[in-house]
Amino acid sequence: MQHFTTVFDVKDPIQLVNEAIDLKESPYLFSKLGQNKTIGLIFLNPSLRTRLSTQKAAKMLGMEVMMMNIDKESWAIEWNDDVVMNGTNVEHIKDAAAVLGSYCDIIGMRCFPTLTNKTLDYSEKILIQLMRYCNVSVISLESATLHPLQSLADAITIKENWNKDYKPKVVMTWAPHIKALPQAVPNSFAEWMTKMEVDFIITHPVGYELCEDFTKGATIEYDQNKALQDADYIYVKNWSSYHNYGAMPEVKENWMMDSNKYQLTNQAGIMHCLPVRREVELSSKLIDHPNSLVQKQAANRVLAAQIVLKNLLESKNTLSNKQANKISLQEA
Ligand code: CP
Repeated sequence: MQHFTTVFDVKDPIQLVNEAIDLKESPYLFSKLGQNKTIGLIFLNPSLRTRLSTQKAAKMLGMEVMMMNIDKESWAIEWNDDVVMNGTNVEHIKDAAAVLGSYCDIIGMRCFPTLTNKTLDYSEKILIQLMRYCNVSVISLESATLHPLQSLADAITIKENWNKDYKPKVVMTWAPHIKALPQAVPNSFAEWMTKMEVDFIITHPVGYELCEDFTKGATIEYDQNKALQDADYIYVKNWSSYHNYGAMPEVKENWMMDSNKYQLTNQAGIMHCLPVRREVELSSKLIDHPNSLVQKQAANRVLAAQIVLKNLLESKNTLSNKQANKISLQEA
């Protein structure tokens, strides 16, 4: 693994999930693997889970951690190439990323979408500019279109809570919200679930179709009640419109997941990536239900980050490892 920005960076996603579940048995087994290595965690947007779980995971592997809210604490970054920088942006990403790369062996970055410019967001320009210029391995801490650390934690949670001899029915169900949210979590969950040993269904109102690049292989069902029938896991999540980019088309029916709808399921594991708006997306009763997995998902964020960092640290393909190999070959 050279980077971790999408499921396609992982050779065998099912194996990675299994490796993570094994690692849970001895979480400090690799506490020296990251000695003398540094991870930089760069945030352009707020975070609770991603920030702290990745920090904890890195420390469990013996790494040094540097964190920065780069949008507030550093110079204003110019992300475009070939510009005359006579405006408010002070430092070009080409310079800033090279500096970060010289301090770090791995860089994680969180960069949310604009939700106003689909072409820009779906080009992942911000993430790609960092990758282009930092010259070390990059982990997405949630980008404009994907949140792979969250989805890996979700896949781990589903796998470790499943003990039946058939493929579970996993239903991702759109939920209402008071503001337009990115499509990163649902895109990413779809990307991962279509590679897992599950039957995967997405249900949402008309107008909330996701980008088909990410949902290929999933069943789309517009009737929420039909989708929820006999579900083994329900993943509740709001997202804004992809096609009418960033809009929130009106939904007249009640899509909030509550106890009545829950009765349709096969006593499903109840999932949400958090943060969640209680009684808007999901009823409090279900969040606090004995079958709720939301806290397990959040706890598994550490494990997900740990297994990804372990793979990057061990990989000969990691950019900083390649450089180290090159130097030791030159010295030999
Ligand atoms: N689920 C998630 O990524 O949480 P944070 O935004 O708090 O990191």
